[in-house]
Amino acid sequence: MYYIGIDLGTSAVKLLLMDSNGEIKNIVSKEYPLYFPHPGWSEQNPVDWWKQAMAGLKELLAEFDKTKVAGISFGGQMHGLVTLDENDHVIRPAILWNDGRTGAETEYLNIVIGKEKLSEYTANIAFAGFTAPKILWMQKQEPELWKKTAKIMLPKDYLAYQFSGSFCTDYSDASGMLLLDVKNKCWSEQMLEICGVKEFQLPKLYESYEVVGTIKPELAKELGVSENVKIVAGAGDNAAAAVGTGTVGAGKCNISLGTSGTIFISSDHFTVDPVNALHSFDHADGGYHLMGCMLSAASCNKWWMDEILQTKDYAGEQTGISKLGENQVFYLPYLMGERSPHNDPDARAMFLGMSMNTMRQDMTQAVLEGVAFGLRDSLEVARSQGIEVQCSKICGGGAKSPLWQKIIANVMNLTLEIPKNEEGPGLGAAMLAAVGCGEYASAAEACEKLVKTKAVIAPDPVLVEKYEERYQKFKKLYPAVKGVLGES
Ligand code: XUL
Repeated sequence: MYYIGIDLGTSAVKLLLMDSNGEIKNIVSKEYPLYFPHPGWSEQNPVDWWKQAMAGLKELLAEFDKTKVAGISFGGQMHGLVTLDENDHVIRPAILWNDGRTGAETEYLNIVIGKEKLSEYTANIAFAGFTAPKILWMQKQEPELWKKTAKIMLPKDYLAYQFSGSFCTDYSDASGMLLLDVKNKCWSEQMLEICGVKEFQLPKLYESYEVVGTIKPELAKELGVSENVKIVAGAGDNAAAAVGTGTVGAGKCNISLGTSGTIFISSDHFTVDPVNALHSFDHADGGYHLMGCMLSAASCNKWWMDEILQTKDYAGEQTGISKLGENQVFYLPYLMGERSPHNDPDARAMFLGMSMNTMRQDMTQAVLEGVAFGLRDSLEVARSQGIEVQCSKICGGGAKSPLWQKIIANVMNLTLEIPKNEEGPGLGAAMLAAVGCGEYASAAEACEKLVKTKAVIAPDPVLVEKYEERYQKFKKLYPAVKGVLGES
């Protein structure tokens, strides 16, 4: 049989076709626009997601026996606010995970309602990108549109709804709305009250590997697949990526270097960061996880290469970078503000420390290092709570660079296990589809059977020491410039 994983990303939807043995048969990627209608805002049109997902599916299956498709599942960009009216029309563009417009609403939730209460109700505090502050923003700024809102959903749930007519979400993705009681896996009555949301406006909750419905007959016909194709709930992209890299069960770690950068620590029991710098969310394997999220990771390098250096030769720009741990230039990676650990939508990116000797290569190196330092900030929060992390998987577009892998291993003092496959969320989603269809008993079993490591990168003690010294300096930079730039 075939299982399809749909990774609904920020720059593109990536579709992956996997067979019963876990072999990847085909991958297709379809881009769509990302809109920044105002500095710090970030929006996309859900209809673009749907059109490109359907176009991608047709391309994905063109050369394959379509009747063998058994299940479809998802890994989706998290936190996005998708609103539908009573006729199921999209009301306004989706407000994405890296949108920073909700500074005032975030402050209201954290200060007026209070972090303690939020943490008690949801295991998390408010961050600008989370869904609840966006709902408050819409109520205040677009009351006419809010009045029309019949359904609130997350990006990947819009696809599941289009495919199956099932108004559903899963616990891992719902965790990022700040409306879910993460510990008890149900909507939080208190948060619904605080945010003026009715439970019927919210999707039904499922485990990521549960079947939510079957494909609509007209779509089955259009795609040439069976009407029995199961639609499986899927997960937030980070939880899906964790499944795709085998980061399930207790105490495993995955780093994702996509548009965002995340460090994801799985747990078999509920745990909460006492200072709420890390998110405490449900996992796609039925357990829990802690996560730190940087808003701009591989996107910093993409911006630097595409917009500033105006080159597509990413690898070429990295050859010749050899003086690791000795770069005098620092880069603060806050192009879209920052989530973990600073929770500051007004933070902005900066280069510091240039001299007349500074070369183009040093700046490129600084960008890669700045992202690694940013990830280390979140790792330090976990370490300060006694969570031991010595090794990690790594996935995402940025993880394809051997230089960036080496920088991350040494900045974070982690042994990196490079999976045979970097397609984290897409593969994880296909694995969840396979679990939903009964091919594997659980996400853990699917990981055990399917996830393989292709290389291991150990930190080098000499570089670790050099980077330690650089990191101690990096740490002082954000507090020194905080509040100088940004919107407010
Ligand atoms: C996680 C987060 C990002 C998006 C990116 O909290 O906001 O990783 O899911 O797609």
